[in-house]
Amino acid sequence: MQGEVTDTQSKEVKSTDAQSKVSDTGLCTNFWKHHGKGVPSENPYVNEPGKREKPLYKNQFMSLFINEEVIETVRQMQPEPCMDVEGTNNTSMLLTDPLRHKYILQTLKDVVGVKKKALIPKENRVTQVVILGSGYDTTPVRKKAYPVKFFELDRAEVFKRKQRIYDDNNIEPNAIYIPLDYVKNNFIDALKEQGLDVTQPTYIIWEGNTMYLDKPSVIQVLNRIKEAFLTVYITFDYFSESLVNKRSGIPSADDITDKFSQAKAQFTNGYDDISILAEECGFRMIDNQTMAVFGKTLQVEENPHPLSENYSLCTLTPE
Ligand SMILES: C[S@@+](CC[C@H](N)C(=O)[O-])C[C@H]1O[C@@H](n2cnc3c(N)ncnc32)[C@H](O)[C@@H]1O
Repeated sequence: MQGEVTDTQSKEVKSTDAQSKVSDTGLCTNFWKHHGKGVPSENPYVNEPGKREKPLYKNQFMSLFINEEVIETVRQMQPEPCMDVEGTNNTSMLLTDPLRHKYILQTLKDVVGVKKKALIPKENRVTQVVILGSGYDTTPVRKKAYPVKFFELDRAEVFKRKQRIYDDNNIEPNAIYIPLDYVKNNFIDALKEQGLDVTQPTYIIWEGNTMYLDKPSVIQVLNRIKEAFLTVYITFDYFSESLVNKRSGIPSADDITDKFSQAKAQFTNGYDDISILAEECGFRMIDNQTMAVFGKTLQVEENPHPLSENYSLCTLTPE
């Protein structure tokens, strides 16, 4: 496969309006997910490797979205390496992006029913996967063998770049792209227009988004999902309130919060108790864990960066 990204492409990396700067962060998360996917002993984002001998995941497509300009954007966004509180190297905070991707891959496997001991009953196995704010997520291309239909929603500019890079490399996207602001528009109607069947069990991936929204928008998205589907599972990641408000006492966390804010991708939303949101929206929590716990369970990281205590993953389904 060709993986070269040309100069013409690199000129388009930077967006101009404040809103779309959040779209640029998708290129950074893709970069961190690519660089932090390896075995713990060789992983640049692991502070103290656990016993795991396998990589977190394999993915040959992420590198297609990395070029000089993306590397420069990443350089501006990530903190200067230094020792942080609790004897951790602050670079290890970047492990949270590969970890969240791993969690989603695991949960996807579960809800599709590929795992031997699946989390959900056989009759609920999903046949459709919706990726909200998908950015440069390469999961549909990577998981072509899964018997599901993928739908992705994001801004038009993101899909333009994604489609072109896939076209240049003769890669079939294996997803229906829906260019749409999912907060301002009824994304369920848009999905239905594109062939989504709300009577079929569906998995929704909402990765790297909730921290950029306001609370009413998160509630609106969850309500729309609950009202539309017969059987649906949703996974999302979220920050603690103290992380968003710079009260975590972790200098590097404040530093990265400032850097994202300067880059016009401000963290605006966090939750100290996600069960309150779940209950308010009529969802049951299937799973909820911090990145610190998840990283230890996978035997990736023995001494997690303190930021990962303030960053969590959850999977919900309507009551
Ligand atoms: C930080 S990136 C995460 C991308 C991807 N999900 C991942 O985790 O790698 C956030 C993505 O959500 C998209 N996004 C945020 N708010 C959105 C909205 N209201 N409508 C559509 N896309 C949105 C941005 O354009 C961006 O691509």
